[in-house]
Amino acid sequence: MNVVTIIGARPQFIKASVVNSEIRKRSENRDLGHNREIIVHTGQHYDYNMSRVFFDELDIPEPHYHLEVGSGSHGSMTARMMSKIEEVLNVEHPDWVLVYGDTNSTLAGAIVAAKMHIPIAHVEAGLRSFNKRMPEELNRVLTDHMSEALFTPTEIATANLVREGITEGVILTGDVMFDAFLQFKEKAAARSRILDTLDLSSGSYCLATVHRQENTDDCRRLTNIFSALKELSYGGQQIVLPLHPRTRKALEQNNICIDDNTGIRVIEAVGYLDMIHLEANAGLICTDSGGVQKEAYFAGVPCITLRDETEWVETVEAGANILAGAEKQAILNACTLARNTNVTVQPGLYGDGDAAAKIVDSFDAKH
Ligand code: UD1
Ligand code: UDP
Repeated sequence: MNVVTIIGARPQFIKASVVNSEIRKRSENRDLGHNREIIVHTGQHYDYNMSRVFFDELDIPEPHYHLEVGSGSHGSMTARMMSKIEEVLNVEHPDWVLVYGDTNSTLAGAIVAAKMHIPIAHVEAGLRSFNKRMPEELNRVLTDHMSEALFTPTEIATANLVREGITEGVILTGDVMFDAFLQFKEKAAARSRILDTLDLSSGSYCLATVHRQENTDDCRRLTNIFSALKELSYGGQQIVLPLHPRTRKALEQNNICIDDNTGIRVIEAVGYLDMIHLEANAGLICTDSGGVQKEAYFAGVPCITLRDETEWVETVEAGANILAGAEKQAILNACTLARNTNVTVQPGLYGDGDAAAKIVDSFDAKH
């Protein structure tokens, strides 16, 4: 089976790494699997610490195709990706196109494959925020409705698909990000020097990430979030903020300064090993990231989500994640509450760490 995998953004490299490693493991033992994976990097993310670092750390092979699309508006970026992906698929004629998550790279790959009548496999199918102003919601709904194999991370994701009339080809695999977390957390603990470098002690700091368009492109929300983080830090809470390049630009454009005296440590975005080590040792996590919300849960660290809704509702129901939105006082109240929360990690909520194996099983079964 020839599978063309289309990835382009930071979380997709992490998700694809575990599936790629499972495909390679099986193809080394030819009795187990016969899949050939052709990796296409759209170039949506391109800075060293948004792209290359993940290939190096997570042992992802060099992409067969690098489309070097770069940044742009949603329409122009997606269109450039589509035209280049079409050229690749015309050469490769794969049996399947494999896409991940909900980025513009996901949608571009899915539209082109669907129009060429190549079946699409979607990893992380069925997630919904029910907020159609989010670019990711549009990307994921459209991709799901074009896919023939839909690998869902949770029972709720499966139920969302059923509600939209999608019942064929749905396989509940669990979450590939849980696989990745389990596979890399010990390596991260052994290799990462980030706590020493930043002079942090375990459990003492709050880890924060902000990058969601609804926060960066709304001056009021961005200002409120950073006012809350500053106030937390003035109250003595050390905060570490690996900064997404989108947010760096938004802070500059809105003249939001983070002085050294705030106690907020602003650092460049970090690689996955440093990131999961930072998460595992944090006392508290504040984020608008989908992946980081779940990793907080996997690590048993209380999380505040800087959004009005989440796709990962299980974490909220489990009492591990508080949806605080982007109002300053609500964020501060949530932090007080979260600091007194003990997170109990329930086994199986995001699968058993074998989502990648189940995904590759399903390709093997199609031979
Ligand atoms: C994208 C995804 C989002 C995902 C996030 C993961 C879409 C619609 N959004 O958002 O779902 O959560 O990736 O991080 O696909 N930039 C750089 N260097 C880079 C990459 C980006 O400077 O290597 C800057 C550029 O100014 C760019 C901006 O960040 O315009 C936004 O990048 P883009 O890929 O459009 O969206 P993300 O916010 O990263
Ligand atoms: N991540 C990382 N370095 C960072 C910030 C995040 O490696 O500086 C990882 C994080 O551990 C998670 C993934 O990137 O696995 C989440 O990606 P992101 O927050 O960019 O996107 P989302 O999950 O919201 O789509």
